[in-house]
Amino acid sequence: MIATIKDLHAHVGQTVTLQGWIYNSRDSGKIAFLVVRDGTGLCQCVVAKSPETEAFFEQARKLTQEAAVRVTGLVKANEKQIGGHELEVTGLELVGESVDFPITPKPHGIEFLFKNRHLHFRSRRQWHILRVRHAVIDEIRSYFNRNGFTLIDTPIFAPAAGEGAQTLFQVDYFGEPVYMAQTGQLYVEAACMAFGKVYCFGPTFRAEKSKTRRHLTEFWMVEPEIAYAELDDVITLAEDFICAIVARVLRDHRDDLAFLGRDVTSLEKITKPFNRLKHKDAADILRGDRAQELLQNDLKTKSARIEEIKKLMGEKEARSTAQGVKQWEKDKIVAELAELKDELGDLEVEVQNIPHHMELAKNFDPGGDLGGSDETIISRLSDKPTFVTHYPKACKAFYMKENADDASRVNNVDLLAPEGFGEIIGGSQREDRYDRLLERVHEEGLNPADYAWYLDLRKFGSVPHGGFGLGVERTVAWLCGLKHIRETIPFPRMMGRFYP
Ligand code: 4AD
Ligand code: MG
Repeated sequence: MIATIKDLHAHVGQTVTLQGWIYNSRDSGKIAFLVVRDGTGLCQCVVAKSPETEAFFEQARKLTQEAAVRVTGLVKANEKQIGGHELEVTGLELVGESVDFPITPKPHGIEFLFKNRHLHFRSRRQWHILRVRHAVIDEIRSYFNRNGFTLIDTPIFAPAAGEGAQTLFQVDYFGEPVYMAQTGQLYVEAACMAFGKVYCFGPTFRAEKSKTRRHLTEFWMVEPEIAYAELDDVITLAEDFICAIVARVLRDHRDDLAFLGRDVTSLEKITKPFNRLKHKDAADILRGDRAQELLQNDLKTKSARIEEIKKLMGEKEARSTAQGVKQWEKDKIVAELAELKDELGDLEVEVQNIPHHMELAKNFDPGGDLGGSDETIISRLSDKPTFVTHYPKACKAFYMKENADDASRVNNVDLLAPEGFGEIIGGSQREDRYDRLLERVHEEGLNPADYAWYLDLRKFGSVPHGGFGLGVERTVAWLCGLKHIRETIPFPRMMGRFYP
């Protein structure tokens, strides 16, 4: 009987066949220990030398990392083993050999791993992250489906900019220029007037020339849009939606988060209501003492950690060259040193940047957008996500609704995830008046002809409406507690990276 590793609990005492790949193996001469992964989990398979295993014992000993195998054996419960079970092997079939799999248990640099991304995501860490991604995507779809939203697929070839013109990828469309979609929003606005509550969910493209840990050139965004709605309705929806995603991941993926070392208590604090902050108050915070103290404190703790790491590395290096140290311990030290070196490198860059970030915060322009480091500061001041609203019109997209009390601001919202993760949602109420929208198109130097269809929506039964976009990868990075967004998507596309 074929079984999957995740279902082994239902097969204790039975003989089953697992179909998978060798994750790692070792043997003691009399027993071969094969850790097999099958996409659903890991299981140690034990091949003991005996007359019954004679036919394949030698083969078992020679199995290499990532060789594909069918392993048959008796399922035993064993709490001490990975996954809680063990297979006492009675049959083995090599399905596909694997010679010199490039990603060994030894440490590799990031560049190497991402060049081998097609193989890299067989590693456990990547497997855990991508499982969380799957759950996030599944919850996004089911949240909107169970709340009466209709899915509307929006085009990827777009005739004009939806967000800023600076971040467009241009494509030759039979001799005419078109652009890769930066957002499906303008199209879901059209659909919203037909269905009331809609969402689009697809790949999104931004030619941002930034190599930050938060930027991809291709990412997945979900964009709900609701009719007869104002800014507060958009915020209420975003809050409920985020709570649903967090609850889902906490319900089903604690094991994945635990493997990733994610502190789940901080996710358990994600409950309604989230913080709300007007842009002008965010500006005051950034320009004030609290922000300076926070960064000053970072400088201290990070510098101390740098010294600590240097000392630790020295000790470990000494230990690894000491006499009588066994090879397995040396290997362990090599791996630990590589990790420390990575941490040290990151910390050194961070410490170098702190004075600059302090300057940026102190001199924050109350008429400007929040930069990455500003978002980080605001999002570290509380355990809860923070909605920042009412940004200056000048730094936001043309379609946003002008604020009724202050024409220099718009009814928009960004949601900053806590713990320094920054923006995961951007949204707004939309300008629903034809004349004002047309004026904004002109003010932004856009060609009204490109937006004629979009302006039409304001001619035929225009109503207050709004929505937001949530970036899947930034959300997954936050939930998993990852420093860099590149691990949250199967094949990341970033500036300077489009292979494989
Ligand atoms: O704030 P943004 O640019 O908003 C829009 O595109 C609106 N049209 C959405 C709407 O109102 N329907 O992007 C929304 C979210 C961001 O908060 C972020 O999570 C993600 O998309 N995002 C990116 N993720 C990864 N890499 C990038 N370069 C991203 N740019 C935006
Ligand atoms: Mg934004």
